[in-house]
Amino acid sequence: MTEQKEFGLPFYGSGLVVKGFGRGSKHLGIPTANLHKDVIDKMPEEMTTGVYYGWAQVQNFPVHKMVMSVGWNPFYKNEEKSMEIHILHEFKEDFYGSNLRIIVVGYVRPEMDFDSVDDLIKTIHSDIDIAKKQLDQKSCRTFSKDHFFDKHS
Ligand SMILES: Cc1cc2nc3c(=O)[nH]c(=O)nc-3n(C[C@H](O)[C@H](O)[C@H](O)COP(=O)(O)O)c2cc1C
Repeated sequence: MTEQKEFGLPFYGSGLVVKGFGRGSKHLGIPTANLHKDVIDKMPEEMTTGVYYGWAQVQNFPVHKMVMSVGWNPFYKNEEKSMEIHILHEFKEDFYGSNLRIIVVGYVRPEMDFDSVDDLIKTIHSDIDIAKKQLDQKSCRTFSKDHFFDKHS
């Protein structure tokens, strides 16, 4: 996997969950939480657009693995840069307006365009597999216990 330093990682971010276009759940079956623009503005310059993995915590709930896409979603040609986090946990309700903390620890690939939605979905599932494996490594797992995350009961 690519050197973390090259991408300005680890990146610590915290902000409000805002509404995206709602395509993640509906078209892809892969719901994403979009982070407020304030967090995107704090990204270091070296952190290029693309797909990353790390840890995420909604409010003071438990910390879970996550995959994240940062950029303009070339497949949908968005006009605004977004930071979308897919948490590898099933939530019963959505959490718009909640605070979300993330620690981004690794990079997977650049954003891509695709010939079909199916290709986009397949690729995201392969990103998820990569993220799960990488995050099980000791060097990545340490970050899940970082003091940055709120203690949960
Ligand atoms: C792990 C991951 C990888 C993604 N990779 C791409 C990509 O390569 N190209 C792209 O156009 N969109 C990519 N997306 C973004 C999806 O297209 C996006 O989540 C979807 O459009 C939902 O957006 P919405 O929440 O604004 O509705 C990725 C999303 C995730 C979670």
